[in-house]
Amino acid sequence: MADSIPFNRPHRTGREAVLATEALTGDHWRGDGPFTRRASALVSAAVGGAPVLLTTSCTHALELLALLLGFGPDDEVIVPSFTFVSTPAAFALRGARVVFADVDPLTLNLDPASVAARITPRTRAIVAVHYAGVACDLDALAAFGIPVIEDNAHGLFGQWRGRPLGSFGQVATLSFHDTKNIACGEGGALVVNDRALLERAEILREKGTNRARFLRGQVDKYTWVAVGSSYLPSDILAAVLTAQLEGAAASQAARQQVWRRYHDELATWASRVGVQQPHLPDGAEHPAHMYWMRVRTPGQRERFLAHLAARGIGAAFHYQPLHLSEVGLRFGGALGDCPVTELAADTLFRLPLYADLTEAQVDRVIAAVLEFTP
Ligand SMILES: Cc1ncc(COP(=O)(O)O)c(C=O)c1O
Repeated sequence: MADSIPFNRPHRTGREAVLATEALTGDHWRGDGPFTRRASALVSAAVGGAPVLLTTSCTHALELLALLLGFGPDDEVIVPSFTFVSTPAAFALRGARVVFADVDPLTLNLDPASVAARITPRTRAIVAVHYAGVACDLDALAAFGIPVIEDNAHGLFGQWRGRPLGSFGQVATLSFHDTKNIACGEGGALVVNDRALLERAEILREKGTNRARFLRGQVDKYTWVAVGSSYLPSDILAAVLTAQLEGAAASQAARQQVWRRYHDELATWASRVGVQQPHLPDGAEHPAHMYWMRVRTPGQRERFLAHLAARGIGAAFHYQPLHLSEVGLRFGGALGDCPVTELAADTLFRLPLYADLTEAQVDRVIAAVLEFTP
């Protein structure tokens, strides 16, 4: 059999080792050094210019924002059930009540009607997850008049009506985990769109101290001013991230090409056999983060994944319904609460999508999919 095609591979621009060595040669290995500043500026430019604080993961960026916005036991936060565990966990850690809403069947993004049905006087925030980097209906979510937070783990370089994803929420998060378009192994960022929050965000990220003000010469010593934690990545990781960001034009172009080939070359087959392709709403520019499709039954998906595995192709399912997880049940989740999520979790699959897939590998994936009859 030909070599197997893994589901994911981090892309190397060729500069990661060069910049990491530069970081290691210098003496600033801790956080907030020259590479942190360089990477933060690049991320900030990509999300519309707001201040960006690098973190050790998107999970930690979410935890930092939940601390920053002061969530507590009196608050309810609406999150999609179809997301990664970190989205609700950050708020649950602060004692807030997590309320799971369903997603739209075409985009797998929060369904505004499901959100509307879950709003109570205690709702403090709605968390928009742009699934696969395709924008949520941000206008409909904003119209509720409740602060929107963006978990933009998938959507760096995505846009909604010409504005970058990550620039809409009061705050937004990003992930640089090695499955993401831009990666440094483990990493993330907090985008502080509401600038009034910036100083406190800096403090909470730096163990609750005013060290950032001290380093800028604004105070003559630094001390403990709030209860925070440590969310800074080392400057060595920021060097890897800088290389990735500086090479983003090429890696993004390569990813877009793979996505477009799947979308175009599988379209006739998909409509003939009744497989759903992703829907791109008007105004949504996506960053080719993932290529998902949906068959109709769990049995079809099992056969499909086995079919691809037998041909050495790593395809994957995705999120399981969080309202039916052990913790979700404790928050009152019940079967039938989020029917679209429940079915999508059992019928969705993702094809390999990364910058280094060769034309021949994409040919092989497409040929293998076309051979399958659900
Ligand atoms: C929507 C979403 N939010 C948050 C995360 C957590 O990201 P990280 O692994 O950087 O903590 C993920 C992980 O893939 C995710 O898919």
